Amino acid sequence: MKLSLKFVALFLWIAQISYAQNSNAVLTKIERTVNVGKMTDYFDASLAPFYHGVASGDPLEDAVIIWTRVTTNVSSVNVQWKVATDPQMTQIVKQGNVVTDASRDYTVKLDITGLRAYQTYYYQFESQGRKSLVGKTKTTPSQTDLIDNLRFAVVSCSNYQNGYFNAYNQIGTRNDLDAVIHLGDYIYEYESGGYGYSNEIGRGHLPANEIITLDDYRVRYSYYRLDPMLRKAHQQHPFINIWDDHEFANDANKYGAENHTTATEGSWETRKANAHKAYFEWMPIRANTIEQYRLYRTISYGKLMDLIMLDTRIEGRDSQVSSSKNLISAAGSNEDFKRFAQEIIVSKDLSNEKDVREILEVVLPMLLKVNDQKSEIATGLSQKEFDIVVDEFATFILNKELTIAKKETVRLEKLLEKGAIYDDDFNERNNANTYKSILGGEQFTWLTDQLKQSQAKWRIIGNQVMVMPWKGVPSNDAWDGYNEERNRLLKYIKDNDINNLIVLTGDIHSTFVGEINYEEDCEMCEFVVPSITSQNLDFLGGFSAGVAEFYIKLMNRHIKDVDMDNHGYFVLDVREDKVQADWFDTNDVKRPILGESLSRSWYVNANDCKVRKASSATVALTSKNNTDEIVLNTEIINNTVKDDFVIIGVYPNPLEVEGNIHYLVNETAEIKINLFTTQGVKVQELQNTTVPKGIYNLSFNAATLSRGSYIIVIESGKTKASRTIVIK
Ligand SMILES: [Fe+2]
Repeated sequence: MKLSLKFVALFLWIAQISYAQNSNAVLTKIERTVNVGKMTDYFDASLAPFYHGVASGDPLEDAVIIWTRVTTNVSSVNVQWKVATDPQMTQIVKQGNVVTDASRDYTVKLDITGLRAYQTYYYQFESQGRKSLVGKTKTTPSQTDLIDNLRFAVVSCSNYQNGYFNAYNQIGTRNDLDAVIHLGDYIYEYESGGYGYSNEIGRGHLPANEIITLDDYRVRYSYYRLDPMLRKAHQQHPFINIWDDHEFANDANKYGAENHTTATEGSWETRKANAHKAYFEWMPIRANTIEQYRLYRTISYGKLMDLIMLDTRIEGRDSQVSSSKNLISAAGSNEDFKRFAQEIIVSKDLSNEKDVREILEVVLPMLLKVNDQKSEIATGLSQKEFDIVVDEFATFILNKELTIAKKETVRLEKLLEKGAIYDDDFNERNNANTYKSILGGEQFTWLTDQLKQSQAKWRIIGNQVMVMPWKGVPSNDAWDGYNEERNRLLKYIKDNDINNLIVLTGDIHSTFVGEINYEEDCEMCEFVVPSITSQNLDFLGGFSAGVAEFYIKLMNRHIKDVDMDNHGYFVLDVREDKVQADWFDTNDVKRPILGESLSRSWYVNANDCKVRKASSATVALTSKNNTDEIVLNTEIINNTVKDDFVIIGVYPNPLEVEGNIHYLVNETAEIKINLFTTQGVKVQELQNTTVPKGIYNLSFNAATLSRGSYIIVIESGKTKASRTIVIK
C-alpha cells in the first residue's frame, strides 16, 4: 500500500511517562496509551519468568536449536526443557536440564539432536515452578525424503523506531512455512529518537543511548524480543538468521563502521566482540564449531535446496571506498526534500501538468546534477537538457506509463547517465586500484566450494547487500563497491556451469527483482525483500517513490521490478520446476494492525536464468502437510508467587556519566533503589516510589561519583535484588 503524504497524527501510541524522583534520577514507564490486542505494557506478566517467549532456529535433518530467556533476580537458575511431537507436550521425545546465569545474560540455548527429519516438534521450558510458552519448530528433510515443496518467509530490517512489527505478526499466523529466513538488521544500534524515529509513531529505543557495551547490546535485544509481534513469529517458526551492519553499527566492515568513532566509542574490536557475544546469546543460531562467532553456513533442505547463508558484512569485508550514498539515505537525510515532499506535494494536483512540472523541478535535482551556468567546471545537465528530462518525466507521471517510445528512452537514458549525481562514487571506485573483498579469502573459497559441491536442485543464497549493479544510484556498501570480487564469483559460476542459483537480499528497505549478468549471460537471479519497518521512500508518498522507481528501471535494464515504498516480507516457494517469491505488504507500520496484501509475484523456472512475473501467488502443494497447529498456549501454569519486580538489565556497565536500571514490575509495588559502596555504605537514593505493573527504565547521573565498584540494591515488600556496577 502506498502511504498518503497527508500524515495525520491521530494517536500517540506510546506514552513514556516520567515520574519525579528525589535524586538526580528519572524513572520512565514504557507503554502504549492505546490498548491494542492486550499489548499495553510491552510485556506479559503471566509469562514470568519467560517474558521473552521462546525461539528456535538453524534446523538440520536431525537437530534444531531451541532458545529462551529466564528473567530472574537469582544469580543462577535451573531450567528444564522438553521436546514433544504434540502441542500438548504429552509425546515427549527429548528432555533435560540446564543451568543459566549472568555470564550468558540468563539466556538458554540448546542444540537438540537425535530428531527425525522433516518433522514438526513442539518445545517448552520450565523453571521456578513455571512453564514457558510452547514453541513450534521443524527439522529439515533428509537426502532420502521426497519433498516437492518448501516455503519460507523472507525478511530483513526491523527498526523498532520506524514502526510496528505488523509483518512479523502476519508471519506468526501462517502455518505453511518451513522456516523464516532473516537477512539482517534484526536490531538497530541507534539512540532513542535517532535514525528512524518519528513522533507520529513514538516508539523509542531502549537503551536510550547508542549501543556500544555488551550490556547495551543485551538490553537492546531484550527490548526487541519483548515485542509481542516478534515474539509470536519466533514462537511459531524456526528462524535462520544472518546479521547485517546494524547488529554492529551502520556500514560496518571488518575494520570499522561509518557509525563508529574510536576516539569516543572505544576500539572497534571490543565493540564487535560485544555485538558478537550478545547476538550469539540472544539469537537461536548454532555455535560454529570452527570459529566461535562465524556466521556463514549451509543448511541443506534435502535434494530440493541448499540454503547458503553468507556474511558479507563482518567476516572479511574490506572498508568501503567511501561511505554509502543511496537514494534512500539521501532523501531521508535531506531536510529540504522532506519538507518539500510533505508540505508541497500534498497541495499539488497530480493530474495537472503545471503542478507536476513544478514538483519535478525540485525532485529531479535530487537524482541529477544540473549545471550551475556560472561554474566553469560544471559537468551536469544544461538547463535545456534538464527541461527535456522534466518533459519526459512529466509525460510519464501524467500518463502513468512506464513505457515510452524507444527513441525517447534512449535519449532520456543518455541524459540521466550524464547527469547522474552519484557518478563520483563510480569514479572513486574505479580509481581505487586495490582489490576490495566483501567475503574475505576464506569465505570466498568456502562459497565456491559449496556451490560446486551442492547436489540439490536449487542453490539459494541468503545475503546482506544487493549483488545486482545499481547504476545511477550505486552504493559502495553493496556488492557494487566490490565489483572485482563480484566478477570473480560470477566467472566461477559461469566456468563451473552452476545453475539454478537465486540470491535473497535485504538491506535497502525496498523491493528489487532482477538478473545478474556476467559477460552478457545471466548467472543468477536476485530477489530483494523490503523492510519490516525501516524507512524507505514511503514518507515521501507514491509520487516521489514512483519517480525514483522509473529512474532506476530506466538506468538498469536488468532490474525488472522495484518498489520503494512498501514494507513487509515475501514467501519463497521452492519446487522442482520453479522458485517463486510472493510479496505480502503490510498495510501500515505506524499502528499495530492486522492484515496484509499481495503486491507482486515473480518466479524463476528451473534451468532458465530469467525472472518472470506471475499472475497469482503460490499456494502450498497439498503434499505439504499444513496441519500443524498454530500454538496458542492458553494454559500457562501460574502456580507460584511471583517476584514483585525483576531486573532485566543494568547498563552501560562500566559506565561513565549516566547509568540505567531496566526492570519489570509484575504487580503494583513500592520500589526502593539505593546505591551502595562495596563496603555497604549507602551513597545515593535513586528511587522510592510506588509504581504500577509495567516495564520501566530508571536513568541516573553518576558524574559526581568517584571511580570504582558499587552495588545497586532494589527492594520491594517481598523482593530484594542487587547488581554490581563499575563507574570508570
Ligand atoms: Fe536496514
